[in-house]
Amino acid sequence: MPPFKRQLQEKLKHALSASELELVPSSFQRLGHIAIVRLKQELVPKKEYVGEAVLAIVPGVKTVCLNTKKIETEFRQPNIEFLVGENNLVVVHREHECIFRFDVTKLMWSMGNMNERKRMYEMVKPGEVAVDFFAGMGYWSIPIAKHAQPGHVYAIDANPDAIDALRENQKLNKIPKEKMTVIQGKCEEVAPTLGHIADRIIMGYLPAPTFALTAAFHTFKPRGGTLHYEGVCEEGKYDELLQDVRDQGTSLGWNAELLHAQPVKSMAPRKWHYVLDIKVTPLDWDEGSMGKIRKEKESKQKIRARESHTSAVPAQ
Ligand SMILES: C[S@@+](CC[C@H](N)C(=O)[O-])C[C@H]1O[C@@H](n2cnc3c(N)ncnc32)[C@H](O)[C@@H]1O
Repeated sequence: MPPFKRQLQEKLKHALSASELELVPSSFQRLGHIAIVRLKQELVPKKEYVGEAVLAIVPGVKTVCLNTKKIETEFRQPNIEFLVGENNLVVVHREHECIFRFDVTKLMWSMGNMNERKRMYEMVKPGEVAVDFFAGMGYWSIPIAKHAQPGHVYAIDANPDAIDALRENQKLNKIPKEKMTVIQGKCEEVAPTLGHIADRIIMGYLPAPTFALTAAFHTFKPRGGTLHYEGVCEEGKYDELLQDVRDQGTSLGWNAELLHAQPVKSMAPRKWHYVLDIKVTPLDWDEGSMGKIRKEKESKQKIRARESHTSAVPAQ
C-alpha cells in the first residue's frame, strides 16, 4: 500500500468507518502550497476530514482542494473546489527552473506532462520560430523561451485568464518581448494572420486538435518544419492520429512524415495520450536543391498566368 494512503488511514481511523478507510486516496497532486485530491463518491460527505488529514500529513501544504470532476469545457478549466486550510488558490509552481503562477480553479496543470515539457524545450534548435497553438499559461512556451534559444515564440490562447497568466509568467521568468509574443484569440483564426513564419508548431489540445490543422499548415515556413500533434487514442494506435494530419496535409499540398510517437500518459483503460513529432514538407519540395522543384513550378505558373493575361488583352 502506498505510504500516503497508510498515513491517511492512520490519521482518519477515528473519523471514518472501516469501509470508508478503504476508499481514501492513495495519491494527490501537489502544486506549490496546494494539495489537490480526488475522492470516490462515497467519501465526498467526509471530504473535510480527509482535507484536514492531508494538511496534517504533507509537509509544506497550506491548502487542500478537491478535484470534483473531469475537465469538459472548451477552455479546459479544471473543476477544483477549496476544501480546508488557507483560502489562497493562486499557486506559484516551479518546474524545470521555470515559474508558473496561476489560479488552480481557472487553469489546468497536468503533472503527467512534466517529462514531455522537458523533451519539448530540448528539441527546439537555436533560432527556430515556435508557435504554441493552445498555450495555456505557458506550459510549453515558457520553458522553450527560457531554455532553448528560439528566434521567437508565439503563444496563442483563446482564454483571457490563460493570457493574463501567460503575460505574468513571461515577466516572472524574465522573458523579453523580443523573444516571446502572447496573442489572445482562437489559433485557427489568429495563426494564419502571422504569415508563413513557423519552424515548429505545438498543438496541445485533447482529444485531438484536428480542427486547427489547416491553420497550422498555413503557418509553417514555405519549406515546412516540425509539428507536435497531441491526441488520445487506443494504446499503440497513434496511426489514426497521424492519418488525420496526413489527410489534411495532402489536401493542402503537404507531406507529413512521422519522426517519433511519444506516449505521454494513460488517460483511461487502454487509452493513451500521445505526442506525435511530425516532419512537414511541401509535397513538391526537393531538400537537395532547397525547394528547386517548387520554385520551378511557381515560375511556370507565373508564366502561364502572364500568358493567359496577355492573350486576354484585346489586340490594339
Ligand atoms: C488543455 S490546455 C493545453 C495546455 C497545453 N498546451 C498542454 O498541452 O498541456 C488547452 C488550452 O487551449 C485553449 N484553447 C481552447 N480552444 C482554443 C482555440 N480554438 N484557440 C486557442 N486556444 C484554445 C484553452 O483556453 C486552454 O488554455
